[in-house]
Amino acid sequence: MNPLAEPIINSLVRPPFVGMDELRRKAEADKFPLIDDSIGAFLASQIRLMGAKRVLELGSGFGYSALWLAYGMQAGELWLCEFHEHLLEEAKAHLDKTGLIINLNLISGNVMDNVSKMPVNLDLIFLDIDKKFYFDAFLKTLPLLRDGGLLVVDNLFLRGRLFEPDGKKQMAREQVFLLLDWLKQNPKHHSQLLPLGDGLLLVEK
Ligand SMILES: C[S@@+](CC[C@H](N)C(=O)[O-])C[C@H]1O[C@@H](n2cnc3c(N)ncnc32)[C@H](O)[C@@H]1O
Repeated sequence: MNPLAEPIINSLVRPPFVGMDELRRKAEADKFPLIDDSIGAFLASQIRLMGAKRVLELGSGFGYSALWLAYGMQAGELWLCEFHEHLLEEAKAHLDKTGLIINLNLISGNVMDNVSKMPVNLDLIFLDIDKKFYFDAFLKTLPLLRDGGLLVVDNLFLRGRLFEPDGKKQMAREQVFLLLDWLKQNPKHHSQLLPLGDGLLLVEK
């Protein structure tokens, strides 16, 4: 994508809740990576269009992306899995302030060790954990979706590292290519890689 397009795309998007701009500024200061707002807006409209009411996020951080997911749902069941318990507590505090009717479920720990605590029959899963776990996490959590549900994976381009065969992030590159190869071999899972933000992969179960 032409780099000049990005500010134009982002200029159309407004975070839905008061205080989110402040959360982004704080994350930038702390060098904590967040989803782009264009991704948040896309997820929210996808959730709204699907009528998704049962959503799982893997790698929720302090809840910035969860605010977008909840906004799309307005009401429903939201599950968050995150390494760090204090970040989950912060996410809960932000979500509580929205006034939305969200049944929030928190799972602290490594996604890879906690799949048995996650629900089935999910409408949508959003995967945004450490990229070196991407393919393994994808394979482990795809069965949790209902048929026709959507698994969305962020940062497929690894902030440009995907295109650097000799650069850093080789484990992450390997996981992304394993995932893309698996999808090519399993075409019944209709999938699309959108050049939105840092590359957004959509996989239908
Ligand atoms: C990119 S940040 C998430 C940002 C969040 N989705 C947002 O946009 O607001 C990735 C988060 O995933 C967590 N994480 C990374 N690998 C994980 C794993 N294997 N299991 C659980 N959490 C993980 C990190 O602690 C971090 O908070």
